[in-house]
Amino acid sequence: MNKPVMEGLRLNVPAHVKHPRLVAWVAEMAALTGAADVVWCDGSQAEYDRLCAELVAAGTFKKLNPELRPNSFLACSDPSDVARVEDRTFICSERKEDAGPTNNWMAPAEMRTLLQSGEKALFKGCMRGRTMYVVPFSMGPLGSHIAHIGVELSDSAYVAVNMRIMTRMGKAVYDVLGEDGAFVPCMHTVGAPLEPGQKSAAWPCNPTKYIVHYPETREIWSYGSGYGGNALLGKKCFALRIASTMGRDQGWLAEHMLILGVTSPVGKKYHVAAAFPSACGKTNFAMLVPPKSLDGWKVTTVGDDIAWIKPGADGRLYAINPEAGYFGVAPGTNYKTNPNCMDSLKRDVIFTNVALTDDGDVWWEGMDGEVPQHLIDWQGKDWTPQVAKDTGAKAAHPNSRFTVSATNNPVLDPMWDSPEGYPIDAFIFGGRRSTTVPLVTEARNWAEGVYMAATMGSETTAAAAGAQGVVRRDPFAMLPFMGYHMGDHFAHWLKMGETLSAGPGGARLPRIYCVNWFRKGADGKFVWPGYGDNMRVLKWMLERVEGSAGGEENVFGVSPRYDDLSWAGLDFTREQYQSVISIDRAAWTQELTLHGELFQQLASRLPSQLLDTKRQIEQMLAA
Ligand code: OXD
Ligand code: MN
Repeated sequence: MNKPVMEGLRLNVPAHVKHPRLVAWVAEMAALTGAADVVWCDGSQAEYDRLCAELVAAGTFKKLNPELRPNSFLACSDPSDVARVEDRTFICSERKEDAGPTNNWMAPAEMRTLLQSGEKALFKGCMRGRTMYVVPFSMGPLGSHIAHIGVELSDSAYVAVNMRIMTRMGKAVYDVLGEDGAFVPCMHTVGAPLEPGQKSAAWPCNPTKYIVHYPETREIWSYGSGYGGNALLGKKCFALRIASTMGRDQGWLAEHMLILGVTSPVGKKYHVAAAFPSACGKTNFAMLVPPKSLDGWKVTTVGDDIAWIKPGADGRLYAINPEAGYFGVAPGTNYKTNPNCMDSLKRDVIFTNVALTDDGDVWWEGMDGEVPQHLIDWQGKDWTPQVAKDTGAKAAHPNSRFTVSATNNPVLDPMWDSPEGYPIDAFIFGGRRSTTVPLVTEARNWAEGVYMAATMGSETTAAAAGAQGVVRRDPFAMLPFMGYHMGDHFAHWLKMGETLSAGPGGARLPRIYCVNWFRKGADGKFVWPGYGDNMRVLKWMLERVEGSAGGEENVFGVSPRYDDLSWAGLDFTREQYQSVISIDRAAWTQELTLHGELFQQLASRLPSQLLDTKRQIEQMLAA
């Protein structure tokens, strides 16, 4: 090997790479993109340090004050490249119908012409003057039967170092791949080739963006963005969009879910997976600190964003966290909302789009302590509290992030890397709703749980480009991440439930819950304290799993009565509780109309069981 593939470029294939198909693909992509150089990442600390130093030299990274934030960096993106771009995200299945009405679609042949083969194909020459990094990664514990391998080719060193934190990245992946192992090819470019002698922008990107998935051939092609889920292709593109289609075909689930371990005062361990839309507190929930009064309970984190869930030999569902790090939202994170997260961020962090303090540390809106009198904001401008007052300028972008290894988390579950995964006891689905949806409801059966997940609505957040605070249906919190027809996903869940309940683990089929931490009072403020106090709800759920907690049926399932929850240490009146748990008939009549609109949109693939469930709810509401 090590043969030149084109004049001036050597492939530099390391001896530990023994996979001819992978090498051929890298050669083909190097030729297509015109990359100036190919670097095969080994995932070592030395490599990470070298790439970070190069990013500092290129102006992409600022090294933070090592006394305040050791081994940490701040990157500020181009102001046009700050979030996932849902309107530029495509599912290119052979048939439009298979992508479904909630995804953007283009015929694969047409997309390939645009990206790869047409005369002006975007990937042709897109890496001129840049290095192409070969980033091998495992989503999930190396060698786990639930894990899968990907290889990302990217012209962004920022991507390479973030991938080292976010995935199990490096040399060991090649041992799993061997000579012919399967991998998902993930092709990424910032779309900013350099002319000879041209200096790169600190955050290269392109106003044209395409985040493209070919579900049948399991490929990802991402053009024009260097940010988050658009560019770290193991995350949303592979672990959700491509993996959801793998799960549909192979009988498992790839979900936008955190996974947590909960240990009861008598030492019994439970595992819960919970789906929430982006920027709705998944990281906070995954690192929850139970209130003092519930001190016997302990929460440990398995994952904060994505779960891969496969049936085990005993007929139960086992989950792993395919990721190895957290790419969390910074604003609003503080010692009250998430102390474990704050402790995770003390060192070894890559921050993106937060503000820089005068002593070389970071700051974001909602951080503990005094607001600094002067900062450099995420766009490099001077920021003072007065500027904020006069112009409304935020020091940190609302979707600013931290990238940090899971191993920094003081409450990381000791078995988080276990290849077998964890048996799931309960699924939780929650949206951000100021009104209508109660604090917590338990589904009376699997189909009702699937209905809850399917009809979930949530107010939009800054995690995606576009309007914020608008209620949209976000089934399974997967609207932006679904790799196939949403109606087929509902059917897949129903079928999994049927198969599992008929199998040996049927009696332990996970319970399904719907939650809403975000109901507001007449004063526009959240009524439920949330954060650590969510443990009270979690405790009730697990007591339900054990059959020991009471509840009351309503039109939407079973909710706890006031006295079914533990209130020690919290001053929360019956009236307040009523205002977060009550079901308003008029609001629910309207809500069901919205469920109906979603079902209409998905009609061609909507399982009839969901229509039956809707009818039952309507009847109960009318009674
Ligand atoms: C994320 C998201 O980054 O959901 O996790 O947007
Ligand atoms: Mn997410």
